[in-house]
Amino acid sequence: MKIAIGSDHAGYDYKENIKNHLISLGHEVIDKGTYSKESTDYPIYAKAVAEEVACKKADRGIVICGTGIGVSITANKVSGIRAALCTNEFMARLSRQHNDANVIAVGARVIGLEHAIAIIETFLNTSFEGGRHERRIHLIEDIKNLKC
Ligand code: RB5
Repeated sequence: MKIAIGSDHAGYDYKENIKNHLISLGHEVIDKGTYSKESTDYPIYAKAVAEEVACKKADRGIVICGTGIGVSITANKVSGIRAALCTNEFMARLSRQHNDANVIAVGARVIGLEHAIAIIETFLNTSFEGGRHERRIHLIEDIKNLKC
């Protein structure tokens, strides 16, 4: 699978570890930064990953910051992205089966690295169930250009 990954400084160590793990499993990984532990701004990297997925240059995306919140908020601003902030494998599995999530967000200050890897593997290895969930995905996609 082709996977885009990105993090801010808080997620940098996790990104490097997760990237190497995914490569060792045979995945192709596109690293959108950050490339050091120097303090930086998470929207830059979450947007870059989301764009790779939305433009179909990657099959899935992984975004990491301290809590996972900032990167998930950012990724979900990009049209076509369904980013799921997951803190356990149950959420990762359901994010795929029911929500067809194409980006996973992880908080490096929230969960341990081994747990994060297990959650991400579940996310990558689970398929969308379709059926009634398809209709709900379309209802999400219909939310465009809200006029107040
Ligand atoms: C950086 O200190 C931190 O705010 C960021 O990694 C993230 O947790 C934001 O949501």
